[in-house]
Amino acid sequence: MRQDGRFGQFGGFYVTELLIPALEELEEAWLTLRQDDGFRRELSGLLKHYAGRPTPLYRSGALSEHVGCEVYLKREDLLHGGAHKTNNTLGQALLARHMGKTRLIAETGAGQHGTATAMVGALLGLDVLIFMGARDVERQGPNVQRMKLFGAQVQPVTSGSATLKDAINETMRYWTGNIQESFYVFGTVAGPHPYPSIVRDFQQIIGQEIRAQIQEQAGRLPTAIYACVGGGSNAIGAFADFIDTPEVQLIGVEPGGKGLHGDQHGATLCKGRPGCLHGSMSYILQDQHGQINEAHSVSAGLDYPGVGPEHAHLKDIGRAQYEAVTDGEALDAFGWLTRREGILPALESSHAVAAVMNARGRYKRDDVIVINLSGRGDKDMAHVMSVMKEVQA
Ligand SMILES: Cc1ncc(COP(=O)(O)O)c(C=O)c1O
Repeated sequence: MRQDGRFGQFGGFYVTELLIPALEELEEAWLTLRQDDGFRRELSGLLKHYAGRPTPLYRSGALSEHVGCEVYLKREDLLHGGAHKTNNTLGQALLARHMGKTRLIAETGAGQHGTATAMVGALLGLDVLIFMGARDVERQGPNVQRMKLFGAQVQPVTSGSATLKDAINETMRYWTGNIQESFYVFGTVAGPHPYPSIVRDFQQIIGQEIRAQIQEQAGRLPTAIYACVGGGSNAIGAFADFIDTPEVQLIGVEPGGKGLHGDQHGATLCKGRPGCLHGSMSYILQDQHGQINEAHSVSAGLDYPGVGPEHAHLKDIGRAQYEAVTDGEALDAFGWLTRREGILPALESSHAVAAVMNARGRYKRDDVIVINLSGRGDKDMAHVMSVMKEVQA
């Protein structure tokens, strides 16, 4: 490897030696193509004309009044596919094509990353194989159907807890035996080097647009940027351009605290300890023997017991702060924004909205907050209705 992929003590590549040649080949292609004018032009053309960038930055009157300062929403929910995931899958699928790979493989939890991968596979004429926990296949029917309509094969994973972490294990296992023709499209800023850096590269356009748009609309930089954190890709995307601008607070929001059923949920950075999962060193939810604890969240996209290593580093050096909101608070924020703004946020993004609503009174009237609204909530409607019924019963 040309780089060590470290963020302070976190990151690295803790994988079977069978995967090292595949990761080296990937790093080499990425380091070359990220500087290649033709590649960059092709990607920015697709981001603009196919996916719909730049996404709008919208001042929410209702939230501004409620929280007591200026609140803006970065509308990644309006990106083609319905979430920020498309920024990354377009970039990685183009890399795959330049590397001569014919098949995209990917894990998915809520189905958003799987859908975004299937979508770009259809666009670029590449085979797509998606690994998805059998429990998630049941919970996320509409996204499974979308993936199949795009022509992808969906492989249910029944091992372990039959959710996202097992789907990642299974995708890595498959990749190990099929590195020649397969490209693993990793869905977030976790996993072994070079994935945390590649995914960050493709998502940082979110923060670059925020910087330009907020200066144009508010005439200043934000006081704080809020984003939900599962593996951490939409948050790193929103934060990256501001890491060297210390006057902008960076706040990541995890699913945590007591949930609807009174159990402890998965706030990895707030409650985890350093350890190794899926090929990198980071904060992890684990028991006293180092066994991985299950994460449980009302939003399938935040149900991950690990987190990207750069977030672990940003937390340790104090550059970003991480808070947790409960399932109930996220559901309330989902309903509130839907009724007050006519915007149906993804349950994942609703965590960031809830954290800002919890900050009512914390900011001065002329402070400016940006929430990265990572995705739209259409995929969550059936789930929200069933949870609401449970609460009312
Ligand atoms: C809309 C949305 N937001 C956030 C996430 C969490 O992922 P990440 O932390 O990598 O942004 C997901 C994952 O599926 C998602 O679908």
